[in-house]
Amino acid sequence: MKPIYKTVQLASSIHWVGVEDWQSRLFDSLIPLPYGTSYNSYLVVGQEKVALIDTVHAGFTDEWLNKIISKAAPGKIDYLVMNHGEPDHGGSISRIMAEAPDIKLVLTEKGAPIAKKFYGVGDERTMVVKDGDTIDLGGKTLRFIEAPWVHWPETMFTFVPEDRVLFSCDFFGTHLASDLLFDDEVGELVVVQAKRYFADIMMPLIAMAGKALEKAKACDPLIIGPSHGPVWRNPGRIFSAYDKWINGPLLKKAVIIHVSMYGATARLAEVITKSISAEGVEAVPYNLVNADTSHIAGDLLDCSVIVFGAPTVTGNVHPVGSFGLILLKYLRPRTKKVALFSSYGWSGGAMTQMKAQVDALGFETIGTLEVQGPPSEEEIDQAIQLGKQIAGNILGK
Ligand code: FEO
Repeated sequence: MKPIYKTVQLASSIHWVGVEDWQSRLFDSLIPLPYGTSYNSYLVVGQEKVALIDTVHAGFTDEWLNKIISKAAPGKIDYLVMNHGEPDHGGSISRIMAEAPDIKLVLTEKGAPIAKKFYGVGDERTMVVKDGDTIDLGGKTLRFIEAPWVHWPETMFTFVPEDRVLFSCDFFGTHLASDLLFDDEVGELVVVQAKRYFADIMMPLIAMAGKALEKAKACDPLIIGPSHGPVWRNPGRIFSAYDKWINGPLLKKAVIIHVSMYGATARLAEVITKSISAEGVEAVPYNLVNADTSHIAGDLLDCSVIVFGAPTVTGNVHPVGSFGLILLKYLRPRTKKVALFSSYGWSGGAMTQMKAQVDALGFETIGTLEVQGPPSEEEIDQAIQLGKQIAGNILGK
């Protein structure tokens, strides 16, 4: 039996030729992939020219090439658009440019050095485009929209106005492998995963995401084809979600993140969580030892206060706690309010260091609690009071 290479038509002469990655469970050695991911690539066939939008991770090059061949011989492709040069999308550039020596790589000015360094593509094979530039394929136009920093400085969108299809690369992406390509086929999980993806990838540069969102809306697309996860054929669904995540108010929610050694810090985390919850404020606890960092990121996106706890180990913040603080630095949550708690065996140190680190990140510390060993009844009361104080701050009391 001949191998089957699935493609999906998005619009007349526009085809999804991406691949599903069902097996990967970690992205960038950081982001868990409970549902795998996908690397989307699209073929736009004009009456005179043919363009390919982005490539796929190098581990999937053969499958991807066979999908393309089922629609157009690589030698017939005139343009390869590099919306983004990160290797999950650029990983097959070298291969297809070797197989089809006449292809021009279309990219932004900032994309050119990336293409050269990562994929060995010299200036003679690139076409640099800027905001508003177009390529006429014959009955189909590619319009380029610079959208820097979603996710790297060189990122851009490509829009086909005749069919109102927007190719947005990482923006509007989702880490979700699915045999069902369209958002409405997948159900609510797609928005849940899109939120985690947004928090992981876009939250650190949320001002740029806001600008990119407005540019995407201005296109008034009927279909959005991102480079990961389902294709949005209900763009309003992801536009309203992005609006909420970028511009919406913070929620009456606290995220309690901790690591514990012998249970003292964990006991404080538990009491503070229940105390916040009892005041009518959503309290979401995470133990850094077993939490999915994407779940933490998703809740950091719209919480009002981060409650962070780690014990002292030989005068330092517990190393897993230090990882949590680095996550805060890297993710840049929208809220700038924290509360801190800690425990120690024979000498403190973690609280002072945590406070200095969150100060340096620009957070306002609205409460602290530090105990020696297992918390006493009096210290449990102090944890309850800290929870009430946090909830009161969120409720504006
Ligand atoms: Fe999916 Fe920034 O690459």
